[in-house]
Amino acid sequence: MGQMIPDLAAASRAVPAKFKSNGISNGINGASKKCQYDPTFTQKVIAATGPNAHPRLAQIFPSLVRHLHDFAREVNLTVAEWSAAVDLLNDCGRMSDDRRNETQLLCDILGLESLVDEITSKQLATSTTQTPSAILGPFYRSDAPFLPNGSSIVQDLSPAVPWYEQAQADSAFLSGRVLSTDGKPIENAVVDVWHTAPNGLYEQQDSDQPEMNFRGRFRTDQQGRYALYALRPVPYPIPDDGPAGRLLKMLDRHPNRPGHIHFIVSADDHRPLTTQLYDSRDQWVDNDAVFAVKDELVVKFEPREGDPEARWELSYDFVLGRC
Ligand code: BEZ
Ligand code: FE
Repeated sequence: MGQMIPDLAAASRAVPAKFKSNGISNGINGASKKCQYDPTFTQKVIAATGPNAHPRLAQIFPSLVRHLHDFAREVNLTVAEWSAAVDLLNDCGRMSDDRRNETQLLCDILGLESLVDEITSKQLATSTTQTPSAILGPFYRSDAPFLPNGSSIVQDLSPAVPWYEQAQADSAFLSGRVLSTDGKPIENAVVDVWHTAPNGLYEQQDSDQPEMNFRGRFRTDQQGRYALYALRPVPYPIPDDGPAGRLLKMLDRHPNRPGHIHFIVSADDHRPLTTQLYDSRDQWVDNDAVFAVKDELVVKFEPREGDPEARWELSYDFVLGRC
């Protein structure tokens, strides 16, 4: 069992037994605990929204308030517990800057980024044959270099690099096509790709890596083909030295993501696709700390013959929906 945050542990001990949740939902407005809490309260908060409220907010805010209030009533949330949650959110804010987004990380371990990604992609989908999306994650850089088709995103690999041998063993050739949902290849599509080094760190997390290591953008040829050299991805822990990591420990959860390669694939007249491909042989593929894995995105790297640059290969076609 993970260690509890002291404040929350104390807050939890301070709750009289009669108020501890029995785990059974009390329904809207705590229906099974009739009259224990003011039954008009939630409606009062909802009704406070004014006639000039932002339209989308006016539409969704009542639901947010209802769910939040029902949660608080259902678990008999105490001031001390609520206060510990406020401290956690404040800590996330304090830790966030343009290199680290701790609040997004908190959403990730709650599964919220993956859920919102699924909702958004299904709302916008124009065909069932489109490649499924997956979350962007916090380590994307929008200005990766454009590289010639067939070149490598691995920079300055020499025996002096601590993970040189693993990089050799994991060297991989990735190729495939970018297609429209009608099966036609898309010329000039951009395949933006990034992954970690064999030490599990993205280049911006690791001052020993060259700028933009393991990142590149490739343009498809007339047949819609892309090709590049990269590495078979390794699993890595999401940053767990902040409040999101503290919560993981309290929940007795691990921080690991299965090895994956990130992609953003874009083309004229098509919706950009943000996705990830997961190595089927990774030990965490069924147990991702941020719940982003989808079956269609799990791939099998095959041994590559006769290429001194790569021991593995992967062929994958991306299918983009039209705008
Ligand atoms: C990532 O895949 O880069 C990632 C996603 C969510 C949280 C942390 C990292
Ligand atoms: Fe990642």
